[in-house]
Amino acid sequence: MRLDKLLAHTGFGTRKEVKKIIKDGYIEINGTIAKKPGEKVDPDKDDVRVGGQRIYYEEFVYFMLNKPAGVISATEDFIHETVLDLLGPADLVQEPHPVGRLDIDTEGLLILTNDGQLTHQLTSPKKEVDKEYYARIEGVVTEDDVAKFEEGLILEDKEEDFKTRPAKLEILSVDEEENESEINVTIHEGKFHQVKRMFAAVGKEVLYLKRIRMKNLELDETLPPGEYRPLTEEEIKNLKPE
Ligand code: URA
Repeated sequence: MRLDKLLAHTGFGTRKEVKKIIKDGYIEINGTIAKKPGEKVDPDKDDVRVGGQRIYYEEFVYFMLNKPAGVISATEDFIHETVLDLLGPADLVQEPHPVGRLDIDTEGLLILTNDGQLTHQLTSPKKEVDKEYYARIEGVVTEDDVAKFEEGLILEDKEEDFKTRPAKLEILSVDEEENESEINVTIHEGKFHQVKRMFAAVGKEVLYLKRIRMKNLELDETLPPGEYRPLTEEEIKNLKPE
């Protein structure tokens, strides 16, 4: 890979800016000052240093974001803030994108990566990846609802009505006086507003929704809404198919 591309991809500036750093003699490759922006380097093998500090290149980046409400899970939008606006400039260099979508008012686990293959593996309907949500519901959720979620619900759709795949609904608490319930639900599809539509189909409304797990990756509850961190090697390994 070209030296100027490596430096731009590791956050040292635009291609134009890094050309200047190279020309000014700040870069060493295997102990020799580099002069040419087009010089070829192997980021895995060559010892590339900027002002004496070794740089390491990772082709792929993986982050876990605790998405706050009010932000959309898209890469650009003319009206709303997007999840990418929550990332620092150095973490945007490798152009991560959100893996799947959460509604604007939904909080919780959102993976951001530039690994298209992993994105596909986690979002393709054929892979049926588990997505678990915590929700507060207006209404008293009953064992009858648990059975209906397990059986599958018919949801109306623009093209064709469809039956949801069996979903695991777990009642955490019910407050009959307040007419509210707390639940966890695990679905294996990712249809538009799916959880909200499933509750609407049993006559109830979702008041608050938060994704707490995707496949085997659980939301790190120490991350406040709006904060993110890189995934660990172990978390990345566990997300990928065996
Ligand atoms: N289901 C919904 O209704 N909304 C989300 O954001 C995710 C799942």
